[in-house]
Amino acid sequence: MSYPFQIKSQEEYNERYKESVEHPEKFWAAIADNFLWRKKWDKVLDWNFTEPKIEWFKGAKLNITENCIDRHLATKGEDAAIIWEPNNPEERTRIVTYNRLHKRVCQVAQMLKNNGVKKGDRVCIYMGMVPELAYAVLGCARIGAIHSVIFGGFSAQSIADRLDDAQAEYIITCDGAYRGEKVIPLKNVIDDALIGNKTVKKVIVYTRTRTPVSMIKGRDIWWEDEMEHAEHQVEKDGKVTFEAEEMDAEDPLFILYTSGSTGKPKGVVHACAGYMIYTAYSFVNVFQYQPKQIFFCTADIGWITGHSYIVYGPLAAGATSLMFEGIPTYPSCSRFFDIVDKYKVNILYTAPTAIRSLMGFGDAPYKNNDLSSLQILGTVGEPINEEAWHWYDEHIGKKKCPIVDTWWQTETGGVLISNLAGITPAKPSWATLPLPGIQPLLVNENGKEVTEPDEDGLLKGNLCIKFPWPSILRTTYGDHERCRKNYFATYPNLYFTGDGALKDKDGNYRITGRVDDVLNVSGHRIGTAEVENAINMHSGVVESAVVGYPHDIKGQGIYAYVIYTGHHDAELTRRDITMTVSRIIGPIAKPDKIQFVSGLPKTRSGKIMRRILRKIAEGETQNLGDTTTLLDPGVVEEIKNGKV
Ligand code: WT7
Repeated sequence: MSYPFQIKSQEEYNERYKESVEHPEKFWAAIADNFLWRKKWDKVLDWNFTEPKIEWFKGAKLNITENCIDRHLATKGEDAAIIWEPNNPEERTRIVTYNRLHKRVCQVAQMLKNNGVKKGDRVCIYMGMVPELAYAVLGCARIGAIHSVIFGGFSAQSIADRLDDAQAEYIITCDGAYRGEKVIPLKNVIDDALIGNKTVKKVIVYTRTRTPVSMIKGRDIWWEDEMEHAEHQVEKDGKVTFEAEEMDAEDPLFILYTSGSTGKPKGVVHACAGYMIYTAYSFVNVFQYQPKQIFFCTADIGWITGHSYIVYGPLAAGATSLMFEGIPTYPSCSRFFDIVDKYKVNILYTAPTAIRSLMGFGDAPYKNNDLSSLQILGTVGEPINEEAWHWYDEHIGKKKCPIVDTWWQTETGGVLISNLAGITPAKPSWATLPLPGIQPLLVNENGKEVTEPDEDGLLKGNLCIKFPWPSILRTTYGDHERCRKNYFATYPNLYFTGDGALKDKDGNYRITGRVDDVLNVSGHRIGTAEVENAINMHSGVVESAVVGYPHDIKGQGIYAYVIYTGHHDAELTRRDITMTVSRIIGPIAKPDKIQFVSGLPKTRSGKIMRRILRKIAEGETQNLGDTTTLLDPGVVEEIKNGKV
C-alpha cells in the first residue's frame, strides 16, 4: 500500500496547503476516497461555529474497524499490526498480526454482544497497556459502542464521576497492571468507583497480574471465559467473521475526558469518519510512514496520543505499531532504547518530559544500544526546550533523524501543527507549520487578528483555528452548551485552543503554553480548579489557590497555596493534603509544593489574583505588577516571605 495523500516535497506541501484553503471540500473528499465505505457521503461538510454544528461526510456509512483491520487482511494478514513489549523484559513479547487482530476484535465484539452491549452504549475501559486494551477499544468500535478509556493513574472518585457523566453501563478492566516495580490493583479501584453507582451492569475482567479480586455475582465476569465462548461463535470452517455494525459518518466513536479551566473534566466526543480520516492522514504525513516501518509511540492509550497514534492512525494506515506496557526507567533508564534496539524501531514518538528525565542519566540511557534503525523522531504534549531538542537530535537521532514537534490536543483528534519529517524544515522548539487543511490564526484579547510584529519581528497572540477539520471535537458528552462556551464562545466564529503562540515571518508557529487556568504537568493536562476542589475537601482547609511553576523535568509543577485552620504539623498536613488529592483525582495531580498562608491576594470583588501567585511561585519577588487593587496588599509580603 502506498499513501496517495502523502506529501513528498516542500512544493507539494505549498500546493496542497493552498488547495486545502481554496477548495476544502474537494481537498478532503479526495483524501476520503482512499478509505473503505459501505456508502459514500451526500455532503462533504456542513458547519457553523456558533452552535457549533460540524458534520463531515454526512450520509456516509462505514465501520472504522473494517478500515483499520479487514481491508488489510488480503495483502498484509501476516504482517505485524501490534508488537507488544511487556513491562518485564524477561517476559515473552507478543506479535499480533493483522489476521490475529481481526480474530481477537471479532471475539471481543461477540463477547460484548453476548453481554447485551448495543450500538451507542457507553463502555468504560480501565486497563493497563496490554494488547487486550487495543482489542477492547476496537471491539467496541466494531459493534458501534462508544468507548471511554480512562488512564490507569486516575482514582476511584475520578472514575465514578466519569461513569456517571457518560452513564456507562459496561466496564472492561484488568485485575491489575504492571508499572515498573509496582502493581496497580485496577479491579479494586473499579470496585471503589462502583460504590453507589446506578448504571453499570457488567464488569469484564482480564487477568494480567493475578492480583486478588472480588468478583461480584451477576455483575463481574472473566474476560478469558467470555472470549473462549465467543471464539466458537465467530469461527466457522476455519474462517473468522463478525459483521461490523454499519455506522453513520457522524456517529460518536468515543468519549475521552480531559480537564479544563473550570470544575469537572469534560467528555470530548469524536465522530467515526472524520476521526478516522484525519488520524490516518496526519500519521502518514507527519511521520512520513513507509510500509513495513516500525512505529513506537510511548504514550498510554488512556490519553488521546495513544488513541490516535498507537491504535487508530497507524492501523488505518496498515502500519506496525509498537505498544509498551512499562515505564522509561524500568528496569533501567535505557528501556526505551533497549526496545528501539530489540525491534529495530524506525520511528520514535515520545514526550519532552521523558526526554528531560532521561537526559539526567548522562549517556547511560543510550550508550549500549544500537540506534541505527531510527529514521524519524517526534515529540508531543508540551513545548520542548532547546536543550532537550538538541539532546534528542544528537544522542538519539545521531543528527540524521528529522524531529517533528507535533502540536495538537484531545479536542483536535490529531496533529494540527507540525513539520513533516524530512519534507518541511524543523526549527528547534517550534511546532512550525499547519498541516494542509488547518487554518490557524493569532488573535488578541478582543478577538482581532494580530498583524503587527513585536520588536523581535514575531506575531504574538492566542491561538485559534478558523475552519473545521475532520477530527475536530463534535461536542462534550451530555452538555453541548459547555462545548460551545469552552471552545467557540471566547472569539466569535473561531475555535479557541486555550494556547498562546508566536508566529515568525515564514509562518512558523511556536506554542508558548496555556493562557487559561490549565496546567501541563509532564504532558498531562490538569485544571487548577480541579486540584483546588480536591485540596478543599481536606478537613481543616479553608481555601486554596493552585498555580503552575517551571519544573525542570515535568515542564510545569503544581504549586498550592493553602489556608489551613487550627494547629498543625506542617509536614504531616502536607502529606495528608497530597493523599487527599491522590484520592480525589489521582496521583498525577499531586501538588509538588504546598505553602500555608493566612490569606490569598484578592481583588475587592473577591477574585484571586493568580498572576501574583504565579509570579511568586516562579521565584519572582520584585515585579509583581499592580497590587493596588488588592483588598489586602499586606498578604503579598507574607506570601513572598513564606515561599517554599
Ligand atoms: C495541550 C493539549 C495532544 C497530545 C497530548 C496532549 C500542549 C501539546 C504540544 C507541542 C507545545 C503542546 C498544549 C495543548 N501541547 N502538544 N508540540 N508544543 N505544547 O493533549 O492533554 O489534550 O493537551 O498540550 O498546551 O493545548 P492534551
